[in-house]
Amino acid sequence: MNNTITNDQDLKEIVRQKYSQIAEQDPALNAASCCGAGPVSQEVYKIMADDYTQFDGYVAEADLGLGCGLPTQFAQIQKGNVVIDLGSGAGNDCFVARYETGAEGKVIGIDFTEAMIQRARTNAEKLGFHNVEFRQGDIEAMPVNDGVADVVVSNCVLNLVPNKQNVFREIFRVLKPGGHFSISDIVLLGELPEHLREAAELYAGCVSGAIAKEEYLRLIEEAGFQNITLQKQKPIYLPDDILQKYLSAEEIAAFRTGNTGIESITVYAEKQAVPAEVELEIRTATAGDFQEVVNLLRSENLPTDDLHPELPHFLLARANGALVGVAGLEVYVTDALLRSVVVHKEYRNYHIARRLTNDLLKQAKLSGIKDLYLITTTADKYFEKQGYTRIDREAVPAAIRGTQQFNGLCPNSAVTMHRRLEKPRVRLSDLQNSCCTPNSGCC
Ligand SMILES: C[S@@+](CC[C@H](N)C(=O)[O-])C[C@H]1O[C@@H](n2cnc3c(N)ncnc32)[C@H](O)[C@@H]1O
Repeated sequence: MNNTITNDQDLKEIVRQKYSQIAEQDPALNAASCCGAGPVSQEVYKIMADDYTQFDGYVAEADLGLGCGLPTQFAQIQKGNVVIDLGSGAGNDCFVARYETGAEGKVIGIDFTEAMIQRARTNAEKLGFHNVEFRQGDIEAMPVNDGVADVVVSNCVLNLVPNKQNVFREIFRVLKPGGHFSISDIVLLGELPEHLREAAELYAGCVSGAIAKEEYLRLIEEAGFQNITLQKQKPIYLPDDILQKYLSAEEIAAFRTGNTGIESITVYAEKQAVPAEVELEIRTATAGDFQEVVNLLRSENLPTDDLHPELPHFLLARANGALVGVAGLEVYVTDALLRSVVVHKEYRNYHIARRLTNDLLKQAKLSGIKDLYLITTTADKYFEKQGYTRIDREAVPAAIRGTQQFNGLCPNSAVTMHRRLEKPRVRLSDLQNSCCTPNSGCC
């Protein structure tokens, strides 16, 4: 036990020293490295780091070229949110997050390297941001109270942390019920050759401390998170000039032809909002649910005359067996109308509507639907936050305009909205069937 602690502390010290050095040097020097691990290969750096420069809120001085993804892109940060960035470095992701929270939100960056914290604070001061705070601390024991964050983000950091389980438990602790995280990181596919794993230099460079993807996702699940979704997966190609430092020619050949590899992933997960004593089930509706669904919709004065008795493309939420939420789609080839979104008033603080509509969206993407439309008299603000934009009624396809849902609502009081769907994202439950291998380019 003591040995582990000593080893973990040693590893952390190596990491801290490395990033202290990086914080104090010219960022141009990092641009030739893999997660700042040293001047190893320009090629690797380009593959690891995604381009942040076009993002609103991007601050060049805060970008030390140390990321391996764009976690804020998938973080669904809303105005007024409290966001925590783990391993915040010079503040790169914090300032992008600050753009999204606005002045009314708050961003807390945590990093255990003092020089990084200093650099980040200088950046925040220059920008005049009083709601971006940098705290020095270890993300295995965060200097933050329970349940304060709406969103946690992190970019290429957890691979450096010896006990990732502790970090996921801490994320769970600091998130509010109903909060979520979006984390970009490096994971392994299969067993990397021993020499690669052992190299301390590569450890600080985000590879040797990385764990298997399945294990990473298992730890997230074990910490209590739900709706675990891989938003992005990108194979990392290690060029020969790196491999030659650690492996013989035969080992390189075996590595190239084997099943092992390295991936950059961006993973999203939610802390369930419903209290532990409430068992929430989200599932596809069947004809047997029809009468209960009608009753719930009627209780909210929503139309039911046009409901198909088999409720195709409907999802429902049951809390301890009782129906508490419903949402459905009417499908017209590649267009669909989102309809009948209702949650029982006692369950409205638990993000049930978001779960129902997110799951419906994923199903819609998988079945080839490209455009979603809706009409609402009360929830336009809510759907705006979910990525829908207002459109003219005339811009809605004729098949959808012809539905009872559309015709039943007065054009003067109802708002019509649209959301374009992108390619499907991979869910944890789909992973067994995934064909992705490094360099296959299929992710
Ligand atoms: C690869 S850099 C990424 C920095 C930043 N996220 C970015 O993308 O620019 C890793 C950062 O995590 C910090 N770090 C590593 N392990 C940590 C830990 N256990 N607790 C807090 N910070 C840690 C390092 O000091 C370093 O600033």
